[in-house]
Formats: sequence, structure tokens, C-alpha cells
Amino acid sequence: MQLGIDDISFATADRYLDLATLAPVHGVDVDKFRIGLGQDRMSVCAADEDVVTLAAAAAQPLVESLSAAELRTVRTVLLATESGIDQSKSAAVYVHHLLGLDPACRVVELKQACYSGTAALQTALALVARNPEQKVLVICSDVARYELDSPGEPTQGAGAVAMMISADPRLVVIEPASGLHTADVMDFWRPNYRSTAVVDGRLSIRAYLDTLKAAWLDYQDQGGEPFASFDAFCYHQPFTRMAVKAHAHLTKVVGQPLDAASAEAQVADTLRYNRVIGNSYTASMYIGLVSLLDHSERDLAGARVAFFSYGSGAVGELFAGVVRPGYRDHLRTAAHQELLERRREVDHAEYLRLYDVPNPTDGGDHPVPAQTSGPFRLAAITGHQRVYERTAQSAVDGIARAAASAPAATTTATTLPAAG
Ligand code: COA
Repeated sequence: MQLGIDDISFATADRYLDLATLAPVHGVDVDKFRIGLGQDRMSVCAADEDVVTLAAAAAQPLVESLSAAELRTVRTVLLATESGIDQSKSAAVYVHHLLGLDPACRVVELKQACYSGTAALQTALALVARNPEQKVLVICSDVARYELDSPGEPTQGAGAVAMMISADPRLVVIEPASGLHTADVMDFWRPNYRSTAVVDGRLSIRAYLDTLKAAWLDYQDQGGEPFASFDAFCYHQPFTRMAVKAHAHLTKVVGQPLDAASAEAQVADTLRYNRVIGNSYTASMYIGLVSLLDHSERDLAGARVAFFSYGSGAVGELFAGVVRPGYRDHLRTAAHQELLERRREVDHAEYLRLYDVPNPTDGGDHPVPAQTSGPFRLAAITGHQRVYERTAQSAVDGIARAAASAPAATTTATTLPAAG
């Protein structure tokens, strides 16, 4: 029985900052960001966007494409994030509600820095192996924030990716062998009292590359495929240049060294979306996969793709997938490109205002201004509750069936106008 990714879609924030705007603020040439980091733009969340709204937006097209009977086979939702909105309640429960999914469902959030989406994927595969009639909805959603004026600031971003995991998948079969590596490293972490991560950037790059090598060696020990059998490589991308560095490193590890330009050519199609989205932590490698599938001029049917998932702290996993014949008929390329084109550019002043958007902690009634043009929004924080609702865009994008089966909206105390 073959198991893997049957459908995939991503969402990102409503706005973006061009890194040409940020370069003079940092007093550097924009090529440091464009060439040195491989980033052109960063997605910036509107005041009413967060990991819940992004996750629901990413998953909406997948849910909407299922019949009512198929929807009932989605009995698990796994949401991976390292920028969650609650220490106790899973962001996935809000998303489950917003999407109108069946109540007969197990719903949970997973955390291990940027890696946990892969833990969710592997868990989903195991659940489907146990009952091939069921599907698992895996969502990775993150808002990457660093301190202003820090080296990490230009690598910020926001995004979510949703994957429907099933037997006999239409897009990518995930093979059983996996290479694993965990080591206790303090390269990036976020204590409960901080809204931005504490980062040792240089150490994080070293830890990423060391983990890649160890995971590759474990993958070989576990009976993984030889390097020469791979047609494409998809790496975690905290900034896209990191994938180029990683690929050059792996070629050295396997004794077939490549210069940077050749290494870049081999991963180029996986970088295109993340160059303009920025870091999306758990989602970034899977947005890399969407980018590869959406952009490859070559028909990838039968191609074996290597995936390297890394989460600071540090956990890494290297595994492989094989692209299914006919995959192109099931991609959402036009919707992804339209989403990126629909974003609105912000200037530096607006970026700063959105960076400092209030996060009230007093338990009062705090409506959130309607800003996003996405399908879901945070409407209010009231009585310590986050209140979400669908926007007019949700109806435009079409969620008629899910809306019909779902309870009204999570809105209880506040009704705000839909996004304008
Ligand atoms: N034109 C082209 N390239 C330029 C340049 C210019 N004008 N100016 C600088 N660069 C290059 C540098 O040579 C360097 O390239 P290299 O890495 O190939 O040597 C690159 O831009 C980055 O510059 P550098 O000064 O070395 O680093 P930085 O202080 O900007 O920090 C990170 C980079 C990644 C450490 C920082 O963005 C960070 O902390 N990010 C968050 C953590 C992270 O993403 N970790 C990754 C693993 S998870």
C-alpha cells in the first residue's frame, strides 16, 4: 500500500515588505538580503491574522474539494507550529471549527521548532497505515518574528501549508525509510515570556549542517536510497540561501562536491515561493515542495525527492518521496500565484505598526480592526478569548458546503464587518 500526500495548498499573510525597504534601515546593500540570504520580500501579518487564520486559509481548498462522505473520513487534524496562540488549547481546534469539520475527529498541536510538521506527517502516515480508509489533515502554520534590527529580522515571514495524507495519494508517495538525529543545542528558542526567539544565528547554521550530515548517515543505515537515485532535493528554508548551503554540504558528505552555483541549480525550483514569503518555520520545507511541483518545467512523475526537515534545539529528519504520475492535474498553482500577487506592499512605517500590534492581556473586550483580505480573521480578543470569524473572502473563495455544516462562527461576543 502506498501512502503520502494527496493534496497540498499554502496560504500566506495579506501584506509584504520588500527587503529593498529594509536594507537602508539596516545600513546594508540590498544584495546582502537578495544574494547573501536569498530573500526578496517577507510576508507581514495584518492585525487580524495569526497562525489560526493562516492555517484555516491553507486548508480551506482541501476541505472544500472533498464530498461530504469524504470529509467524514478526515478523523485527525494535526497542526504543527512554534508560534502558537495558547499554551493549552490547540490552534487546531479553532481551525477544525472554522473549517466545519466533523466532530468525530482527534485534533492536536505539535511543537519542536521548525521540525514538528514532519513529526505530524510521519504520525499521519502511521495513522493512515492503520486504517487506509481514513485521511489525516496535516497543517504547518507559523509567523516568524525576530527582534527589530537583529540579523534575523530580514528573514522574517509568515505562512501555512495544508496537506491531506491518504492511501494511494495523487501527489507524492512518502517512502518508509527515515534518517533521524536529535541533539540538545541552544541555537534558537523562545521562552514563554518572549514574543521573539533568542537566536545564535551562526550556531544555528552549524547545528543545521551537522544535523543534516547525521540524518543522512542514519538514513543510509536505515536502508535509504543512494544519493544518485535522487532527482530533486527539498530542504528546510529559514532563508533560501540556507538550502543552497545545505545542498553543497550534503554533496561533500557523500563525496560528490558541488560549487555553490551548481548546488543552487539543483534546488532552485524549491526556493521560488520562499524567496518572497520569508521564513514560515514549520511550513517552509513543505512550501518548498509546493514550489518544486508548481515550477518544475520537467515532468516530475516518478522523480524521487529528498526532504531534510530541521528544527532548532535540535531535531532533524531526512526522508524521501516519489512524485506520482498525473500529479500536475491536482496542483493548485494558479491559486498560489494569485495569492502572492494579491498581497499588498507595506512601507516601513506600516510594517513597524504591524510588528507592534497590541496583544491585550487584561481580559477586556478588544475588537481587532478588519484588515486582512484573507478568508478568516481574528475578530476580537475578549474575556481572554480569541474570537475568529470568516470574512467576505471566505464566501468568494467558496466554502459553501463547510459553512452549511458548521456552527455559525466562533464569534460569540463581537461582530465586526468583514474585511474591506
Ligand atoms: N552582496 C552579497 N552577499 C552579501 C553582501 C552583499 N552586499 N553582504 C553580505 N553578504 C553575504 C555574506 O557574505 C553572507 O554569506 P555567506 O553566509 O555565504 O558567507 C551572507 O550575506 C549573510 O551575511 P552575514 O553577515 O554572514 O550574516 P548575518 O549577520 O546577516 O546573519 C543569519 C545571517 C542567518 C545568521 C541571520 O539572518 C540569523 O540569525 N537568522 C535567524 C536564524 C536562522 O535562520 N538560522 C538558520 C538555521 S535554522
